[in-house]
Amino acid sequence: MRRMTPTEDPRAHSPAAERNKQPILEVLRQVLRAEGGDLLEIACGSGQHAAHFAAALPAWTWWPSDANPQVLPSVRAWVADAGIANVRAPLQLDVTAAQWPVGQVDAIYCANMLHASPWATCRGLMQGAARHLAPHGLLITYGPYLLDDLPTAPSNLSFDADLRERNPAWGLRRLADVLAEAHQAGLALTQRFAMPANNLMLVFAHPAA
Ligand SMILES: C[S@@+](CC[C@H](N)C(=O)[O-])C[C@H]1O[C@@H](n2cnc3c(N)ncnc32)[C@H](O)[C@@H]1O
Repeated sequence: MRRMTPTEDPRAHSPAAERNKQPILEVLRQVLRAEGGDLLEIACGSGQHAAHFAAALPAWTWWPSDANPQVLPSVRAWVADAGIANVRAPLQLDVTAAQWPVGQVDAIYCANMLHASPWATCRGLMQGAARHLAPHGLLITYGPYLLDDLPTAPSNLSFDADLRERNPAWGLRRLADVLAEAHQAGLALTQRFAMPANNLMLVFAHPAA
């Protein structure tokens, strides 16, 4: 069989995803139920997280998705490379769409989308999670936020400026604004984990829980 040259490798590499995948996995192990279920990943990007987490959490069936169809070949390649069977074909899913092409799920995971997309994605994520989570379901998010009670770390301030230069509709979000959207959707923040590099993992429970 012909070997692929590096330029033919469809796997996109995010250095940040490589750095944060292990700390995130440790939190996922704590918050996701041991019996497993269906987990929808929103804004999966390269697919590095999907492949790593699904391999480590075999009781869970992973449903990676992203609004950008161009990332999907990379997701497929990372999953194929991991040689795992508990990942479904990646879906094109825009969180701001009124309907998502999925049914009920036991968990939703979303990393690093809110600051790299317009603010409307926050409402889309919260409202969609409220619609699609099973009664025992959890929404788990990861990313950096602006905190009202703490000065923003210099690294996050320069990240914010960089994001806004790339797209004026992007930028770090105030945690208080994100929580207000969650509250409006009926989701309750149940756990908050401080993560390396001034990131947070947030766990929200379904309104019916
Ligand atoms: C910074 S990347 C994060 C990728 C990955 N979750 C990670 O942490 O490495 C942001 C992702 O959000 C996706 N995205 C942006 N707007 C979206 C939307 N409206 N619905 C779903 N995904 C969206 C982008 O296509 C991109 O893949």
